[in-house]
Amino acid sequence: MFKEIAVIAMLLAVVYAAPAADEAPTPYEFQFQEQNANHTLARQESGDASGVVKGSYTLIDKDGRQRTVVYEADPVNGFRAQIQSNEPGLINSAPAAATYSVQ
Ligand SMILES: *[C@@H]1O[C@H](CO)[C@@H](O)[C@H](O)[C@H]1NC(C)=O
Repeated sequence: MFKEIAVIAMLLAVVYAAPAADEAPTPYEFQFQEQNANHTLARQESGDASGVVKGSYTLIDKDGRQRTVVYEADPVNGFRAQIQSNEPGLINSAPAAATYSVQ
């Protein structure tokens, strides 16, 4: 599970690496689904010419745990995600709500 999360985190880090100042965002779209004996992973994402990125991924383990992350990112509002999961121990919350101040 952690390995898969780490891989996904690395993918997101690559996807959201800031483009160089002279590079305009290029529209793109991709999706894939991978299924093996232990899990199903589905992912899709698209980005438009103004830098708005929308996507989601779903991970379903063979024991029934599943998580879906729906995210959106743009140059003005940054990265926002909604996570739906049935993983044990979770409660409804919004832990990422935070204010950042540059000093
Ligand atoms: C599925 O999980 C088992 C047990 O951890 C592991 O041995 C096997 O390699 C896994 N299969 C795949 C396709 O990842």
